[in-house]
Amino acid sequence: MRRLVFRAQHAGKRVGVVPTMGALHAGHLSLVDAARDDCDLVVTTIFVNPTQFGSGEDFESYPRDLAADADLLAPHGCDYLFAPTSSEVYPDGYATTLDVGPVAHPFEGKHRPEHFAGVATVVLKLLHMVPADVACFGKKDYQQTLVVQRMVTDLNVPTALRICPTIREADGLAMSSRNAYLTSTERHQAAGLHASLQLAKKMTGAGERDAGVLTQAVKAHLERLGGIQVDYLAFVRAGTIDEVAMLDGPTVALLAAHVGKARLIDNLEIEG
Ligand code: PAF
Repeated sequence: MRRLVFRAQHAGKRVGVVPTMGALHAGHLSLVDAARDDCDLVVTTIFVNPTQFGSGEDFESYPRDLAADADLLAPHGCDYLFAPTSSEVYPDGYATTLDVGPVAHPFEGKHRPEHFAGVATVVLKLLHMVPADVACFGKKDYQQTLVVQRMVTDLNVPTALRICPTIREADGLAMSSRNAYLTSTERHQAAGLHASLQLAKKMTGAGERDAGVLTQAVKAHLERLGGIQVDYLAFVRAGTIDEVAMLDGPTVALLAAHVGKARLIDNLEIEG
């Protein structure tokens, strides 16, 4: 894979990579499209990374269908699908893990303590295996994009990151491989996650600046829908993980919640 990328770069081609865990949906495919627009050669990686799942999480049941994924990628002009095995990624005796520091600690890091060490480590490994010029990630995983950016900056990784917009279902639900876990009732409830963040945005547009007031309104909205158990809801300064009490500039509302068996995350940019 590395030889192939180097050869393309040597011939003056720009290489893009889209790291994924498979179970591809329109969100992933939009990343492939972004890489395709920007690059001459596009590689999608599929690897369900065990080290970013905590015990009791859905590593075993995470949807896997390589053939279906390959069929989805072809019409989007993906040149290569790279799907390494676990032992290729984590050879015998594997012991190194990255700690990206404070950006990984709150929110997802608090609820999934080993998650970001696993993500940062595997992304670095994938970028060594596929040393592309550009790597595309989705904005839905807001904190992940900051963790990966920190890691790439701190470790001089010569790959530029391109962060692409969240792709949503018609009712606003952010596309996620984990949406497949939802029953039809839960699927309906899950649409409330985006709607509740929209409510915060609307209230801010009408002049509300107090994150406490917005939090109460969002949580009340979600409670009314039922079936949603919130892990966290927070307002952070855009581009950071710093929580704000008063919205006084570009802000991102972060939400994580359980709906049935699915743990879903979403976020929305709000002008404070
Ligand atoms: O966002 C994902 O799908 C994963 O966290 C990633 C970046 C592919 C690392 O396993």
